[in-house]
Amino acid sequence: MLAARAPMGWNSWNTFANNISEKLIFEMADAMVDMGYLAAGYEYLVIDDCWSLRDRDENGMLVPDPEKFPHGMKAVSDYVHKKGLKFGMYSCAGQRTCAGYPSSYDHEYQDAATFASWGVDFLKYDFCYFPQSGDPKMRYLTMAMALKASGREILFSACNWGTDESWQWMREVGAHMYRSTGDIFDNFASFSQIAKSQFKNFSMSSPACFNDMDMLTVGMYGKGNVGLGDACTYDDYVTQFALWTFFSAPLMIGGDIRKMDEKCSALMLNKNLLRIDQDEEARPPHMIKDDRGSYMFIKHLSDGEFALGMFNLSEQRIDMELMFADCGVPVASGFGFELTDAVTGENLGKRRDDLFVSLEKHQSKVLLARLCRV
Ligand code: GLA
Repeated sequence: MLAARAPMGWNSWNTFANNISEKLIFEMADAMVDMGYLAAGYEYLVIDDCWSLRDRDENGMLVPDPEKFPHGMKAVSDYVHKKGLKFGMYSCAGQRTCAGYPSSYDHEYQDAATFASWGVDFLKYDFCYFPQSGDPKMRYLTMAMALKASGREILFSACNWGTDESWQWMREVGAHMYRSTGDIFDNFASFSQIAKSQFKNFSMSSPACFNDMDMLTVGMYGKGNVGLGDACTYDDYVTQFALWTFFSAPLMIGGDIRKMDEKCSALMLNKNLLRIDQDEEARPPHMIKDDRGSYMFIKHLSDGEFALGMFNLSEQRIDMELMFADCGVPVASGFGFELTDAVTGENLGKRRDDLFVSLEKHQSKVLLARLCRV
């Protein structure tokens, strides 16, 4: 089964946009393996927009830009596969890709066959230049069918930015993940807004078809293609990553893995956080409290554990009280929680009744919790 858990990997767009090449992809594949990302589950290496020539060839085939990819895409795919990674590419359901390259509109079956012949395992499928008279559901269904007909198992990553409430229908047309929002930028306002806009939709994200909140910007610190507004702090990135894991969202790294600083690398490789994201039940978090721009959630995990999340998405310090009664564990039950800080790994011991946490602006606290008698 494809996308049994939220897909994880790396995507070229956030940092590199048009500035991609075989050399870059080879280096990124090496870094994903050498720095432990593949071992942690980041298995897809995805080339986004800008990989082809501006026109198809005389047979209507897509042509990789020979300056960027001098040995063609099969050679890139072979390299990626030899590393133990899976290979992803990009096209578009509209009449051009967002950067103006040829897309797969009316070429769905031909292009799916081409991608399969190159050994592609993942297709991100965008929505720019979609004709007004077109039927989005029909076009995403057509590409899903073309991929199925290609003879290769290819994960279908639909990217129509939530148009026509994509969370309502992407599962039924065969997508394995679907972008639910516009593009992320590397600043707190952008990604906290993305997360908040999806609080209401997460019950529609589950195994085989996940709500995709866009590629991560963790570790970019304003560098690259999507830097805009105030650069993020490490705390901002903890909150971004933790929110994505709470929603069992796909984790596609957008930063330059070769140059990732140690703290952000450790964050994205954190076993507790990855376990929350990758839990096999992929349950949505239940919101316990919404107070002045801060949010508390409890998320059921598959083995009797829970994740508790406290997120201060506001611009001021907030003192937060997590009442266990609000998690379904009233004082009279005789039960409390044994808590572990998911980010630091620190065991916080057994607690009853409640937990107070004071969070500076943009900070978050993620805990793993087990029920215990107190
Ligand atoms: C759209 C998508 C982005 C990226 C660019 C490429 O904006 O939402 O994720 O793929 O196109 O041009």
